[in-house]
Amino acid sequence: MKGIFKTEINRRRFLKFLAASPLFTAMGGIGAIFKDFEEKHAFDSGSSQQLRSLIDDVINSAEEAINVFDFEPVAKLNLPPAHFGYLATGVEGDKTLLANREAFSRIYLRPRRLVDVSSVDMKTELFDSSLSSPIIIAPAGSQKAFHSDGELAVAKAAKNQNNLQILSTVSTSSIEDVTYARGEPVWYQLYPTTKWDIAKSMIQRAEKMESPVLVLTVDVPTLTNRETERRFKKLDDRDCSSCHSQGIQGFLERKPMFDGTNKPELKGLLFPAMTWDFVKKLKDFTSLKIVLKGIVTYEDASLCVEHKVDGIIVSNHGGRAEESGRATIDSLPEVLSAVNGKIPVLVDCGFRRGSDIFKGLALGANAICIGRPYLWGLAAFGQEGVEVVLKILKAELKTVMMFAGTKKVSDINSAYIRRYD
Ligand code: FNR
Repeated sequence: MKGIFKTEINRRRFLKFLAASPLFTAMGGIGAIFKDFEEKHAFDSGSSQQLRSLIDDVINSAEEAINVFDFEPVAKLNLPPAHFGYLATGVEGDKTLLANREAFSRIYLRPRRLVDVSSVDMKTELFDSSLSSPIIIAPAGSQKAFHSDGELAVAKAAKNQNNLQILSTVSTSSIEDVTYARGEPVWYQLYPTTKWDIAKSMIQRAEKMESPVLVLTVDVPTLTNRETERRFKKLDDRDCSSCHSQGIQGFLERKPMFDGTNKPELKGLLFPAMTWDFVKKLKDFTSLKIVLKGIVTYEDASLCVEHKVDGIIVSNHGGRAEESGRATIDSLPEVLSAVNGKIPVLVDCGFRRGSDIFKGLALGANAICIGRPYLWGLAAFGQEGVEVVLKILKAELKTVMMFAGTKKVSDINSAYIRRYD
């Protein structure tokens, strides 16, 4: 039987969960609630049905997960509040973060019947490679904040599951270590900073590791107000400086892609003066394919084609860039229309189900990147968590492809979906 407070560990995990919950803070102060709750509710004799269901929902192993959402509460339990806040946050009121999810419910499927779907193939062609599925690991910084094995655990999981991985500039493992852990090249995401020498050093390292694609993220010209992250940070009473030094130089010290560069000159990662001239400079400098991440309009997608960019990732940074209130699945059609099949278009933000992935493909995206789900898996159970997240998404995509009557990814098109009015 799965008793809720059957072990001391569960009890401690539950208290930690409460301590990190803004809801409980809002109810009158975490310390008071913590003590009050523990005393009044005498854990051993049980608690309200509602709280029982909260803890019952927390899985104890990756294999228990029924869907990718199951990993998030475990991530929340495992991580210090400040780290969980970094993972979870959008910007300002998190409207764009929510919009990314909600928009999927305005699109429905039109499945076809009596198609032989006894074998379904998720193979996807992208640039010169054949991927085993259209699901790609989006770049995310500081993965050792989620698990001590960080990007290396993700690389091994991605290798075992045969999913393409994009490594962030602000990764906590180097591209060399990640490539060796994976046993094959990864794509490299670039925040160029204002110092060309630093960008050059990173590109050269990516070239040496035979990365085929450089992903230039273009959607963060300024700092964002990540209110959710700030609120979680307030709940964290640990002294951050006891684990890592603070400030931009402390941050860069933990980012091996800045090793050997003139990082003391840097005041931050941002490059607000970046324009299309920089894209041209990149193209002149490297033979890697250049993909722009963060494009959400017809106009910018047209400029991508004009500037001979090799691909686009339609993205609002998981609701962490501007608070536009617009989902990327809603931005995707205008980008596709501007591109008109000339270059591949990928999309991310809010993809949590095989059916979400199917909808993105049906609209015309060539592949889908996922962010938080694999980070939840990482924070919850390390490499195994990431692997199970990838397995679940692939299994769900396969299922929806079978229901829809699409035997291969190239069969999926706009006839299989409609929008509610
Ligand atoms: C990100 N993202 C991101 N993007 C990028 O280009 N470089 C980066 O270093 C990061 N770092 C990062 C950290 C964390 C914790 C998150 C959640 C996201 C954005 C990421 O690549 C992707 O666009 C979104 O995560 C996709 O949205 P979902 O799947 O998280 O909803």
